[in-house]
Amino acid sequence: MIIEVLASKEAVGKRASEYIVNQLQNKKSSTICFATGSSPLPMYAHLIELYKSGSISFAAAHAFNVDEYCGLGETHPQSFRYYMKENLFDHIDLPLKNQNYLHGDACDFKAEAENYEKKIAELGGIDLQILGIGENGHIGFNEPSPRFSENTQVVELTEETIAVNSRFFENPDEVPRYAITMGIREIMKARMLLMIATGKSKAEAVKKMIEGEITPACPASIIQQHENAVVLLDYEAASFLQ
Ligand code: F6R
Repeated sequence: MIIEVLASKEAVGKRASEYIVNQLQNKKSSTICFATGSSPLPMYAHLIELYKSGSISFAAAHAFNVDEYCGLGETHPQSFRYYMKENLFDHIDLPLKNQNYLHGDACDFKAEAENYEKKIAELGGIDLQILGIGENGHIGFNEPSPRFSENTQVVELTEETIAVNSRFFENPDEVPRYAITMGIREIMKARMLLMIATGKSKAEAVKKMIEGEITPACPASIIQQHENAVVLLDYEAASFLQ
């Protein structure tokens, strides 16, 4: 695992975008799996700048997303599909046909999950997986549980995650109780993991992820086993590390 500690979340975003540039330079048709939330926003802003200055192109890339709320369609402002369009896809040259996402308003989530994994496999797997970490150590929406999850599936969100994510909603009651997420095994299949964590609220989870035992009680700890994982932290997120 490579760990880089940078001065600010903006510096983390800039560094993270260098990994994306490098990935797309090595393979224009890279398959990238994106995450939402606050952590990757500086990276997305920087990627848009790089695109506008002609330093990067997503024209041959393929995109997936690690998770989505159940019940929210793509036009819902809090859906992760909407977030990706607003914060990145509508501002770069990634073709619409290459934008894959989990449909939060699917009628049959089992079929949705199977089709999603099939599509990823057909494209040769994920080259680069972007991740954030929840304060409870979740990755994607894989919450702490007795065992590591495997496939893409519907999960019940913990009260903690609902409370943390309620900041994005007008009313905490509007936060969906269920989400569809790629499982830990699917996430770990990616050829590279790029984990971004910033801010003091992540310090405890980051310590467990990097220095703790590998346990499904902290799902992110599994990345210790990945052969090509990069963790980008700001000083605050890194502040509890030995
Ligand atoms: C979002 C996702 C989540 C977030 C995590 C951190 O697609 O997969 O695991 O990465 O909850 O969220 P932020 O960055 O908002 O602190």
